[in-house]
Amino acid sequence: MKVLVVGTGYVGATTALIFAEQGHQVTGVDVDEKKIASLRAGKLHFYEEGLEELLVKHLQQQLIFTTDMEKAVQENEMIYICVGTPQKEDGSANLAYVEQVARAIGQYMNGYKTVVTKSTVPVGTAEKVTNWIAKAQTKPYEYDVVSNPEFLREGSALYDALHPDRIVVGASTERAFQKMRVLFGEVNCPYVETEPKASELIKYAANSFLALKISYINELARLCDSLHINVKDVANGMGLDKRIGTSFLGAGIGYGGSCFPKDVNALLNTAAQSSRPLTILAKAVQVNESQTLYALEKMEAALGGWKEKTIAVLGLAFKADTDDMRESPSLKMIHYLLQQGVTVKVHDPVAKYTGGGVLQCASVAEAIQGADAVFLCTDWAEYKQLDWGSLSKEMNQPIVLDGRNCLDAKQLREAGVQYYGLGV
Ligand code: UDX
Repeated sequence: MKVLVVGTGYVGATTALIFAEQGHQVTGVDVDEKKIASLRAGKLHFYEEGLEELLVKHLQQQLIFTTDMEKAVQENEMIYICVGTPQKEDGSANLAYVEQVARAIGQYMNGYKTVVTKSTVPVGTAEKVTNWIAKAQTKPYEYDVVSNPEFLREGSALYDALHPDRIVVGASTERAFQKMRVLFGEVNCPYVETEPKASELIKYAANSFLALKISYINELARLCDSLHINVKDVANGMGLDKRIGTSFLGAGIGYGGSCFPKDVNALLNTAAQSSRPLTILAKAVQVNESQTLYALEKMEAALGGWKEKTIAVLGLAFKADTDDMRESPSLKMIHYLLQQGVTVKVHDPVAKYTGGGVLQCASVAEAIQGADAVFLCTDWAEYKQLDWGSLSKEMNQPIVLDGRNCLDAKQLREAGVQYYGLGV
């Protein structure tokens, strides 16, 4: 099938590449000429395992990139909207880019179109898109607006796209459902058909539930600290109940990224506007915000204060296998430490710190040299394999705060490290 993907940011580029891999004829369009030039040259503007290979593989055959929106709309019946929906100051999602695209589709369309929103958009957006298209139309061509949220995790986008837990399609007409069934063909996962509003809410509800799970285990981790219980054992024991599940019960310094914080706020905003506040979710946000502080206080007690201390922060990305630092807890940590007058040395295998005031180190050894403590903020595989016994000898004090509970506490303690986890 021919598919147009509007917006070639993380979601758009990934969607375009996956469709191309699935055998569709894909056009990616963007107003950003630099991005398009780079994609045409086979260069991806973000780090995501396996995707650049797909880009090079499909370029010019299954996949083309353009800035010509008019031609792109006219040549494609299936149009995916994948532009950004940044957070506004009040926590709601900014739909300005979605509106621009919807209006352009209305203006340029030359026949029937299926217009699909892939970006995470608030409940009621499909209706808005329908109206924006209608207003911009020069002729009353027919069209359907569909919601098909993405559930990809950064760092595992390719795997997730090829092995989805489910596909959700929200539409209002049988014609639209039919078009989407043709697009997806045979699928190896549950395929949920529902109304657009439900589909839009599913995405927010799912991400918010995962955020709740993380905040719940993080608060339990604090309780475990005071009761001297290992939260990992608790998470495992409770998670093995199939109704609970073991995933997203990893205690740590809290969730970050471009999705959870933004989506949770957007859902809170939607709920407040409907006079049905999601109080439990508001608490989860509070727990997430105070979790970093909890970790810092734990460290301050271990160090006996921040005065004249040097801290090595390992990991800047909000999670492993990505260079994305958006809403990363590590940045909150660094900000706090700098405010306390601490000397901060940072290392990340991929991400680079863009603010000032810290020493960016090229290796873990360089970051650790002479430090009073290590703060591990991202669970990179590289950090789990380090020889902490010999590395800690290069430190002023062998103190390690494992903000992701990803190191082997027993092994580190046996190697003479003063190990601290969260609930470990
Ligand atoms: C998330 C959703 O998982 C995905 O379905 C959606 O499409 C986009 O948002 P992503 O933002 O890539 O994906 O990250 P995810 O792997 O979900 O992790 C989010 C944050 O939670 C990270 O900061 C991670 O470190 C943290 N996390 C995750 C925990 O603290 N504990 C856990 O047990 C799991």
